Amino acid sequence: MEFTKLIDKRRSANNFIEGITMTEEDIRPILEDVKLAPSAFNLQHAEYIVVLNQELKEKVREAAYGQYKVHSASGVILVLGDREAYKQTAHISQGMVDLGIITDCELDNLIDDNTKFYEERGEAFMKEDAIRNASLSAMLFMLAAKNRGWDTCPMIGFDQQQMRALFNVPATHEIVLMMTIGKEKESSQSLRGYRKPVEEFTTYY
Ligand SMILES: Cc1cc2nc3c(=O)[nH]c(=O)nc-3n(C[C@H](O)[C@H](O)[C@H](O)COP(=O)(O)O)c2cc1C
Repeated sequence: MEFTKLIDKRRSANNFIEGITMTEEDIRPILEDVKLAPSAFNLQHAEYIVVLNQELKEKVREAAYGQYKVHSASGVILVLGDREAYKQTAHISQGMVDLGIITDCELDNLIDDNTKFYEERGEAFMKEDAIRNASLSAMLFMLAAKNRGWDTCPMIGFDQQQMRALFNVPATHEIVLMMTIGKEKESSQSLRGYRKPVEEFTTYY
């Protein structure tokens, strides 16, 4: 889809057409697009839990205060942010050593630099950065999904503890966002909400 049209057409779905099955083959190309999201130091803090199993999705619905949209959606996506993504520097950059792009010594420096950057700034920064990076990834997911014919709704209406327990989310990870995905029931679509004019949210210097 042409990009400006894509931005215009992406809406937060109020409801979905029931009974539409989504498979891993449908999700995979969206996640291949999402791989290209930017992330600080290319640490790729975002991780995805994809729920396509309908029984499990009903348990997700319970953790989401019973919202009907979770029932009618084809699937639910949880976007996690890894607060300790900096510990993956070696894993992510080893390939560059193998290809001769950087030396072992440069990799060691990269590991030291990233460790220092995050550990000096502390826990609050690690959490904030996990949320920042996973949010960018989630936005790309919603656009990529729309581009491939799927509608989404970002949602914060769920019980963190209940959701964490359901998927054994490790203590190092934040659940940044839940997204329902499916085919929007267009008759349920509301008018686009008011948007502030550009001057109201922009300052030039
Ligand atoms: C972080 C975040 C959390 C949201 N949580 C919910 C939610 O829990 N339930 C819901 O129906 N919509 C939720 N929304 C969707 C917003 O209501 C929606 O994006 C906004 O009204 C603008 O509409 P549009 O996305 O169709 O342009 C959320 C959006 C964001 C970005």
